[in-house]
Amino acid sequence: EPKSGAPRPLAGKHVLVTAGPTHEPIDPVRYIANRSSGKQGYAIAGALAALGAKVTLVSGPVTLATPPGVTRIDVETAQEMANAVAQALPADAAIMVAAVGDWHVERAEQKLKKQGGSPPRLELAENPDILAMLGASPRRPGLVVGFAAETEQVLEHAAAKRTRKGADWIVANDVSGDVMGGEANAVHLVTADGVESWERLPKDEVARRLAQRIADAL
Ligand code: CTP
Ligand code: CA
Repeated sequence: EPKSGAPRPLAGKHVLVTAGPTHEPIDPVRYIANRSSGKQGYAIAGALAALGAKVTLVSGPVTLATPPGVTRIDVETAQEMANAVAQALPADAAIMVAAVGDWHVERAEQKLKKQGGSPPRLELAENPDILAMLGASPRRPGLVVGFAAETEQVLEHAAAKRTRKGADWIVANDVSGDVMGGEANAVHLVTADGVESWERLPKDEVARRLAQRIADAL
């Protein structure tokens, strides 16, 4: 609950946030995942709620507490996340922070066994791109924000993702260090107007600043 008297510039607005990794099952006991902790996405969901927004948080498997005032929908796979996002529309803004698995495997019904000489070969198929789907949707939220996790050519790749996916803004971060799972984040806000680079900040502070920018834009 925000303090009484605190400004609520996002009152009446519905904001959709994705966060965390996805788990892509290989068989009943194994999956492919990534190093996302969900911290940045959860902090953003909490900061938006603190500004008065109705927040729907579609979350991959993480061990974090749901921020106050946030409605959370738990999913496991990228396909489940895509379905949950579509279900949660309409929204005034969507902030896609999740580290969505890029590929899934055809899931084996039974646990794979080590039998024989050669290990199993995993055939990967691409997952739906949730951000691109929203960017092109007839139900596109008025403000669509993506994240870009890059280990090189951060700004170039982020700008390309912004146009390719139909996003208004991309928050680019260099994940070559300890960003994934860490407490701080150095990000660049890439918009149609150019690039704004923020100093390295705690993830909570990145969240507060971004939430304020979203409030200004809506
Ligand atoms: N994203 C998504 N659905 C996917 C993959 C990514 O919605 N299947 C979103 C992420 O939540 C993020 C943005 O797209 O907001 C960029 O994710 P990123 O992994 O950096 O980009 P990709 O397009 O997957 O490109 P690559 O991993 O090859 O760099
Ligand atoms: Ca990706």
